[in-house]
Amino acid sequence: MKKIITKILKYFGYTIQKIAKEDDPFKDVLESSAFEEFFQKTEGMISLEEATLLYELAKNTLDHCIVEVGSYRGRSTVALGRGSLDGGMVPVYAIDPHEEFTGILGGSFGPADRGAFFQTMLATSCYHVVRLINLSSEQLSPNWNQKISLLWIDGDHSYEGVKRDFDCWLPHLTLGTFIAFDDSKDPKLGPYRLIEELLETGKFDKVREVGKISVLKFVY
Ligand SMILES: C[S@@+](CC[C@H](N)C(=O)[O-])C[C@H]1O[C@@H](n2cnc3c(N)ncnc32)[C@H](O)[C@@H]1O
Repeated sequence: MKKIITKILKYFGYTIQKIAKEDDPFKDVLESSAFEEFFQKTEGMISLEEATLLYELAKNTLDHCIVEVGSYRGRSTVALGRGSLDGGMVPVYAIDPHEEFTGILGGSFGPADRGAFFQTMLATSCYHVVRLINLSSEQLSPNWNQKISLLWIDGDHSYEGVKRDFDCWLPHLTLGTFIAFDDSKDPKLGPYRLIEELLETGKFDKVREVGKISVLKFVY
């Protein structure tokens, strides 16, 4: 009899515990493990090493917000989102119109990427902190009212495109803001030229390089 009661209690105890856990909206966040597992669930254009850099930068961002320009199917967004979840839980604004677009390197993008993006946010629980904004920087930035602690630019890599995106967000940066650029090492691409110009102003220091990403810090 005792055995049966113990079994029943055990059964209910297990069930109660399980229900409590399932009711917790952040259960999947709290169960967060190594970032690489999340990376494997993504499709995108940066390597694990580059994504880990973004993850670490986001994890160390404890105030204001993170802005990403160019989300595609959500790979870098997951790096930023998981970093935020494991760090200060600051909002991550993912800015990408997800309209037909051909990049300077020949990549073609469009609305199908929006669907993949949503799926990736669900599969990685990043929707807890990621806010997708389906517009481009110039439509959005004039009315923006939040300071940005981390800016990741991976949209249009033409010089005019990357400069436009950077100039849109510049008024919203604060001293100490990190700005990470993808495709920053190829002299034929816009980010390389823009970074050279920014370093010449003396207002930015280059603080990290990983793969094709360069990270500047706003110092003056
Ligand atoms: C190279 S992909 C981004 C890759 C993504 N960051 C990743 O980790 O895989 C470039 C993206 O920039 C987007 N894009 C192009 N022009 C843009 C703009 N003005 N503002 C924001 N995103 C833009 C494209 O729609 C495309 O999804």
